[in-house]
Amino acid sequence: MKQGGERIVALTCYDALFARLLDGAGVDILLVGDSVNQVLAGADTTLSATLEQMIYHTRSVRRGAERAMVVCDLPFLTYQVSREEAIRNAGRVMQETGCHAVKLEGGQPVAGTVRALVDVGIPVMGHLGLTPQSVHALGGYRVQGRDQKTAERLQADAKALEQAGAFAMVLELIPAPLASQISKALAIPTIGIGAGPACDGQVLVLPDMLGLNDRFTAKFVKRYAALAEDVREAVKLYAAEVREGRYPGPEHSFPT
Ligand code: KIV
Repeated sequence: MKQGGERIVALTCYDALFARLLDGAGVDILLVGDSVNQVLAGADTTLSATLEQMIYHTRSVRRGAERAMVVCDLPFLTYQVSREEAIRNAGRVMQETGCHAVKLEGGQPVAGTVRALVDVGIPVMGHLGLTPQSVHALGGYRVQGRDQKTAERLQADAKALEQAGAFAMVLELIPAPLASQISKALAIPTIGIGAGPACDGQVLVLPDMLGLNDRFTAKFVKRYAALAEDVREAVKLYAAEVREGRYPGPEHSFPT
């Protein structure tokens, strides 16, 4: 798609219901992000996401996806300890979920692991910039690569991931000109989130862009719907109708 100048459309997805909807709407990549731990499980960070949790959600997404590529995030500490553990854990994800690829965070320090996974036949997507599994080391959820030194490191990280065999990479929360430089320097596609318009594709966290997670606001998130409001209104109407005896009516009941 990059070679053909076609933009890649990605969204996070955590269950079969939405997977069917997104797949049917033509989304190219369904990313089962470890953001599920925050968005659906209510945790403060992604750090406590487990392999079991990711396998459960990825298996569900895979059941709902006929055409889209399904990518599963490897959670914190499932790929950093050793290459052997990374292969075992990523292999489990591939075997038990039927997904097409895994994603992991980091640059040069994980390039050897990316190579080891690719060598055993596991497609790997990288993730650079704001890497949420390192949120405490980064001092918070903030834009990365604003200074020359970090920008140069991110460029070298991107090259290292490509050379290690990654097939694509997420660029999260980095200045648009830097994302543009990295995207131009790579043959593999970049998928941006808060990284400007020059990336080869875009990803957003689904409940954020649907306005379902209406407590979360960020400059880079465009809301394409206001589902939280729709849900609140629908549930209030249902509650009122039940309380007032207006639901169920004869049309919802079985006479015999
Ligand atoms: O976990 C996630 O949802 C992600 C995206 C934000 C890229 O990694």
